Amino acid sequence: MIDIHSHLLPAIDDGPATVGASVEMARVAFESGTRQMVCTPHMIAEYPTEVRAMQLGVAKLRTALAEADVPLQIHTGGEISLTWLDRLSDEELRMASFGGNGRWLLLEMPFTGWPLQLGEILRDLEIRGFSAVLAHPERADAVQRGPDRIRDAIGRGALVQLTGGSFLGEHGPAARRTAIALLGGGSAHFIASDAHSAGPWRPPDLGVAVQAAADAIGVHVQTLDWMVTEGPAALLEGGSVRPPKITSARRPRGGGRPAPAGPR
Ligand SMILES: [Fe+2]
Repeated sequence: MIDIHSHLLPAIDDGPATVGASVEMARVAFESGTRQMVCTPHMIAEYPTEVRAMQLGVAKLRTALAEADVPLQIHTGGEISLTWLDRLSDEELRMASFGGNGRWLLLEMPFTGWPLQLGEILRDLEIRGFSAVLAHPERADAVQRGPDRIRDAIGRGALVQLTGGSFLGEHGPAARRTAIALLGGGSAHFIASDAHSAGPWRPPDLGVAVQAAADAIGVHVQTLDWMVTEGPAALLEGGSVRPPKITSARRPRGGGRPAPAGPR
């Protein structure tokens, strides 16, 4: 598996505080089946990670992982808040993109309120050559109240990443219900850990979460494979990404119409 959202770097945000804790977290991730992990430190007012600090952190952690014999492959990235985007130049955005490929960005949705300017932001990024993956919209209260709101962003080419812990109830019943609605309704494309520690708080155990997600929508776990293997690999390659259509095998509650065709 390839985990596209993690706070693995030491002492840079609210992830592990030391190199030793990062190495332990990487070991737990590897032992639970993750082979590659994108380091996506917060880029937001509270944790204003600079892209060069992120790159340096990844380089140093690679050395530490090699010394500790932990074969987890790690990549550069960032979890960029919508409120922080304006501060980053095109060059900085390129460096903060998945694997530094210059194309796909992980954007953090606000937890409260709906970003009215989201369509404009996505359009502006597209003009500048970037595409967006929206991080854990199931945790945003506006999406919890109306999961269909995310369809417009998907129609504009954004992809959606759900957090595995949401399926395990780690972010409350509303996030769990919304994650299931988005996944089962065809409005989700990736599942990632958003891990912050080796555990028990927000661990990097993606396999358990994917199984829970599959159970929640009544499909075989292999149905969700693309979301944690080929899909993330395509993001890291920086080209077009064509997600398969995934829908719930269970009857939707309250109807619901199909999501727009998958983004490019
Ligand atoms: Fe995160």
